[in-house]
Amino acid sequence: MSRKVLITRVIPSIAYDLLTQAGFDVRVWKSETPMTQQQLIDETKKVNALLPLGANKLNKKFFSECGHLDVIAQFAVGYDNIDVAEATRLNIPVGNTPEVLSEATADIAFGLMIAVSRKMFFHHKMIERGEWKQFEPLKNLGVQLTGKTLGIFGLGRIGMVMAQRCQGAYNMKIIYHSRSRNLEAEKLFKATWVSFGDLLEQSDVLSVHSVLSEETQGLFNKSVFTKMKQSAIFINTSRGGVHNEEDLIEALQTGVIWGAGLDVTNPEPMLSNNPLLNMPNAAVLPHIGSATEEARTGMARIAAENIIELYKTGKMIYCVNPEVLKDNWRQKFEN
Ligand code: GLV
Repeated sequence: MSRKVLITRVIPSIAYDLLTQAGFDVRVWKSETPMTQQQLIDETKKVNALLPLGANKLNKKFFSECGHLDVIAQFAVGYDNIDVAEATRLNIPVGNTPEVLSEATADIAFGLMIAVSRKMFFHHKMIERGEWKQFEPLKNLGVQLTGKTLGIFGLGRIGMVMAQRCQGAYNMKIIYHSRSRNLEAEKLFKATWVSFGDLLEQSDVLSVHSVLSEETQGLFNKSVFTKMKQSAIFINTSRGGVHNEEDLIEALQTGVIWGAGLDVTNPEPMLSNNPLLNMPNAAVLPHIGSATEEARTGMARIAAENIIELYKTGKMIYCVNPEVLKDNWRQKFEN
């Protein structure tokens, strides 16, 4: 009997095609309305493998009912929606889709930085309101980025592309704070590892590319913003949970920092009356970091290949809890 896979939303068809060609029985949740938690659990109970999206909550309750799963292959690089410790305890490997979306996501961080530095979204809205009257020598001036210092919080694959963009376009000095040193970035971009305190003090643009975890949850709060330059621009394209949005709004309203660009908000979706949407020095996008044809197709391909490879070879292209695969995981299917 074919193994069954559930894909929890319609995603690029390459995932469906690859899995079907490899002999899987593929079920897709076709509704525009995402699954409720109960629907997710009920439908997952009927399958061997799950291909979920970041919006699906794979929490303790989910695992208490779906511990039978062979594999989870997430359609995203981030996996803060999955209780990975619980998956690991149950011996369920969890895959994700890095790399294929790094360019697309870094472009959004880079674009937001420029948009904020020149108040682009605000000026666009001014025209819409019929307020473009004449050339203004002194009003709503932006800031130039050339030669400024880019501080990266969490220098992984996406941060690397952001560093490359910023150095190539604006000759920016790169500093970073990560749990571990990134020697490649140090070599390629002369990036310097600094303490978190120094990152806050020295960055002209501070771009967040870290995971959301217990350590980073709400990290960018009032006391952290206070330590940043008054002229600083804060960019977040990772997860909205890394910043405290009320504190960010206050920091912008009171001039504690100069500007902010967000592709991720807290909560998501952002309400349409959020003050950030009307601030001159803010730019907000609706979590579109990976939203290019190329990135989304790549993510669908990797997610499907993660499942196919696992059953075929006992390995995944990208696995976030590889310790599960060490115990000759494949033997599970050979008997
Ligand atoms: C998007 O946010 C992702 O994690 O892929």
